[in-house]
Amino acid sequence: MMFFRSFLFFFGVLATLLLGWAGLVGMPDAMISEIPPPEGLQRYTAEQLYGRSIYIREGCLYCHSQQVRPEGFGSDQARFWGRPSVPGDYVFDKPHLLGTMRTGPDLLNIAARQPSEQWHMLHLYDPRIVVPGSIMPPFSWLFEKKPTAAPGDIVLNLPDSLKPDGRAIVAGRDAKALVAYLLSLDRTYPISQGTATLKGK
Ligand code: HEC
Repeated sequence: MMFFRSFLFFFGVLATLLLGWAGLVGMPDAMISEIPPPEGLQRYTAEQLYGRSIYIREGCLYCHSQQVRPEGFGSDQARFWGRPSVPGDYVFDKPHLLGTMRTGPDLLNIAARQPSEQWHMLHLYDPRIVVPGSIMPPFSWLFEKKPTAAPGDIVLNLPDSLKPDGRAIVAGRDAKALVAYLLSLDRTYPISQGTATLKGK
């Protein structure tokens, strides 16, 4: 009797673990592991990938999500543009940066909403220059002060009151890459039936 009980207990625990694994790992993997990239989705360039690593390093994802939810889950489409995101939108994203917090707006389609490189540079240097009252922190260490800008430098068009002793503020390597990454974030391309929905069906 004792032996039978231990046996039952052992298989009960085993079955519970297996069921949990199947539901949380096996099934999702079978559903989304073979999704082809949608036609409109470009691979990241080396520069954009480096910018993506800066996005992670600077903790942008603690305040910004990258997911547009379908109707019925809030007003995402009106606020952040585009259609609801589908699994195929993320095939090149490793690790994914879906995010869990929205202290700031969703950024999955930020390049469609704000395509200006200069705007992004000014906003990163000090968000309140372009968005009065913004609570986003400045990321001014991504920029350099130079006596004179060199050819090819991206110089910030700062108002006179913010120009430190007449020197130019130019985008550093990390700022350039980060903005290149932000300007690649545009998942507003159409999704044709059968390309990027679950399991490609
Ligand atoms: C502490 C939270 C916080 C962090 C960290 C943060 N942001 Fe923001 N961000 C905000 C808030 C709040 C706004 C809305 C106000 C504004 O536009 O400045 C915003 C706005 C933005 C916008 C404009 C969005 C739009 O729809 O107009 C961009 C682009 C952006 N952030 C990029 C970044 C990047 C890149 C980083 C990392 C380097 C970052 N943010 C880090 C809070 C944050």
